[in-house]
Amino acid sequence: MDALYAICRTFEIDDNDARGFILRKAAGADGEGASWPIIISRKGSNYFGFEDACPHQGLTLGAGGGEVMDNEGNFLVCRHHGAQFDLDSGTCFSGPCQGKTLASVKVVVDDGDVCIAGVELAEEDGLDLPESDAPEVAVTGD
Ligand code: FES
Repeated sequence: MDALYAICRTFEIDDNDARGFILRKAAGADGEGASWPIIISRKGSNYFGFEDACPHQGLTLGAGGGEVMDNEGNFLVCRHHGAQFDLDSGTCFSGPCQGKTLASVKVVVDDGDVCIAGVELAEEDGLDLPESDAPEVAVTGD
């Protein structure tokens, strides 16, 4: 079974909302772990994970720790050129990359924790941003 990495508690993401997290992938052969921004969204009791890389130009939706939801809280939005994405499918329905989809990340809810699987993370929080710019992430291997 894949390792599970707990990202946050289920109640820490409101229904019809999403949060960005900056993780760090495990070091490869070069010894360098890569910073890896992701987004976890929620619809009801379902959680969805996406790589935070806009299909338009590969930039992070929130422009480095910013808000990833539109102002009305209905969908994901890229702050660079306004692409709008469904919360559950990650598909862009309006904007310069319409029809393209955010790369998905496998999410598993385990005992009240929202976890990701299918990747290997460094055993550190990997937060490079100032505390005020990024949510706290406690990554634990399972
Ligand atoms: S980089 Fe996201 S809309 Fe252009």
